Amino acid sequence: MSDVGRGAEVLRVLRAVRSVRDLRPDPLPHDALVAILEAARWTGSGMNRQPWTFVVVRDRGALAGIAEASPNAGHVAHAGAAIVLVMDGDMPEITTFDEGRAAERILIAATAQGIASAIGWIPPAGRPAVRALLGIPEEKRVRTLVALGTATASGARTKAAPGTARRALDEVVRWERYA
Ligand SMILES: Cc1cc2nc3c(=O)[nH]c(=O)nc-3n(C[C@H](O)[C@H](O)[C@H](O)COP(=O)(O)O)c2cc1C
Repeated sequence: MSDVGRGAEVLRVLRAVRSVRDLRPDPLPHDALVAILEAARWTGSGMNRQPWTFVVVRDRGALAGIAEASPNAGHVAHAGAAIVLVMDGDMPEITTFDEGRAAERILIAATAQGIASAIGWIPPAGRPAVRALLGIPEEKRVRTLVALGTATASGARTKAAPGTARRALDEVVRWERYA
């Protein structure tokens, strides 16, 4: 493939990243999971602190427990796996940015391999349960997970029609100045 073709393919994958919440609990290939984790490991972070540990959860009981603790992320109960982002506790502003970058890389790497994915938010009330389930110490932060799996037939369809779920380019972009 030419460099131009490769570039177009990368842009196609980026455009294809969408939340898919209707998942089948089939196990995911180990190599595919490792490829996703490698992509996440190479995420840039503030001062290259790499303030993360990626906890891969495949155990069905643990996935169900995380779903119970995260009412908006019920989809994780049906996932093949979830990657829970466990972040260092210091420098919260930079760490939050790093967390978002790493989560997005996980979504992109999954999409590039045809694996469906969706972020799930673990609310404050659910965090103690997730800490206990996964053995996460008090000094670490936990709030973001990415559920991964095989899309069901209905899950493979995006919630909104393609091209309708984002504000228009000229609404979100200002050239040179805000106002
Ligand atoms: C910080 C953050 C938290 C999110 N939490 C959840 C969540 O708890 N449950 C969920 O189903 N989706 C969650 N999402 C996914 C967004 O709802 C989704 O990305 C957005 O609606 C756009 O849809 P799309 O990803 O299909 O393009 C979260 C996304 C972000 C960035």
